[in-house]
Amino acid sequence: MTIAVAPSILAADFSRLGELVRTVQDAGADRIHVDVMDGHFVPNLSMGPVVVKGLRPITSMPLEVHLMVERPNDFIPAFVSAGANSLIIHEESADDSLSIIRDIRARGVKVGLAIKPRTPIDVIVPYLNELDLVLCMTVEPGFGGQAFLPESIERILNIRKLIEQNNPTCELEVDGGIDARTAILAVKAGANVLVAGTAIFGAEDGPAAATRAMRDTCI
Ligand code: DX5
Ligand code: ZN
Repeated sequence: MTIAVAPSILAADFSRLGELVRTVQDAGADRIHVDVMDGHFVPNLSMGPVVVKGLRPITSMPLEVHLMVERPNDFIPAFVSAGANSLIIHEESADDSLSIIRDIRARGVKVGLAIKPRTPIDVIVPYLNELDLVLCMTVEPGFGGQAFLPESIERILNIRKLIEQNNPTCELEVDGGIDARTAILAVKAGANVLVAGTAIFGAEDGPAAATRAMRDTCI
């Protein structure tokens, strides 16, 4: 299974954002994870389409947008025009997830569905055939720098089973508290896309070494 590393820019120094994105790209990162928070769905504010628009010309990596917002539908056109390559919505954020998933795909970008740590994993089943990616949150969404929830391992194992049964090409991404140690556990359980913020942009030996270390330990 191919493993992809997706640095989360939420943990980056925003005064050096372009430079840091190029650094992780050169070190072998596969995509950039953009955390969008609205202060309602989660108790924090982060960034919007302007950040995607600003990054688009300076990197060849896909930009994936993790929408931790109420009414995700309202923001889809703006992120697509800004240059997002994939949009991930939360199952808990909308009643009409299926129509939003179809709308995202119809716009020519990839589509993912995220679930929070306390959401039963079975909720993904009706959508699985139409998804490129399932995002299993391994912390409560809202803030970077939290500890990986150990109960996530069993959830990852079981989501991997559901994916194999329903749509084996669908990716399984983990997000929250992923570092060199938890990345290995998550990959062993069946994850194939690793989001990491603090472990990459907050690394003592710098984001390039941290990106390479995560790739080397997991491949
Ligand atoms: C949390 C975000 C994560 C976060 C991960 O709500 O979805 O993407 O940036 O940060 P770390 O890797 O620091 O846990
Ligand atoms: Zn995220």
